[in-house]
Amino acid sequence: MNITDDHFRKTLGLFPTGVTVVTACSESKGHIGITISSFTSVSLTPPQILFCLSRKSRTHPTFKDSLYFVVNILNKDQAHLSEGFANHTALRLEEIATSYHEKSGCLLIGEAMGHIVCEKSAVYDGGDHDIIVGKVIDLTASPDHFPLIRQRGKYHTTGDLTPSSKIN
Ligand SMILES: Cc1cc2nc3c(=O)[nH]c(=O)nc-3n(C[C@H](O)[C@H](O)[C@H](O)COP(=O)(O)O)c2cc1C
Repeated sequence: MNITDDHFRKTLGLFPTGVTVVTACSESKGHIGITISSFTSVSLTPPQILFCLSRKSRTHPTFKDSLYFVVNILNKDQAHLSEGFANHTALRLEEIATSYHEKSGCLLIGEAMGHIVCEKSAVYDGGDHDIIVGKVIDLTASPDHFPLIRQRGKYHTTGDLTPSSKIN
């Protein structure tokens, strides 16, 4: 079967995902953020997660240099941040509501549903993407929000997933 880019994108786009902005920093490039939906958990012991990063991304050199990164899980009202960090708009990470994570020095996006702070533990070849694995070193959770969901190239949220004040 000849799998075209369009066929691949449209079929994989049926699968709903959450949306994150992954932040990192390096001395030469400063702070960066990129919209990422290819985020998943990998292992409980040790706690590890992964995401896939295009080798063509302008953020690729920063992730290569940076030991730490943060996965910011977006809430339903943050689609503008998803669009902003996916396109080369004038959206500057330092200008949106953020704070710094002390140990990693990475920026945390305010109002995100969760911040997953990681130390890069491995990078694997994933074709035109790198598979970046991180060991989780810190976590914050704000489960009292609705998540931002992406499916078929559009943003959604869901009323079926009930927010709560606890993460259990
Ligand atoms: C909802 C959404 C999810 C995305 N997920 C990924 C992803 O998992 N990996 C990736 O490399 N790019 C992903 N992208 C594309 C990047 O955010 C970005 O647009 C692309 O890398 C080109 O811009 P850049 O050179 O500034 O990185 C996603 C874009 C959107 C809108």
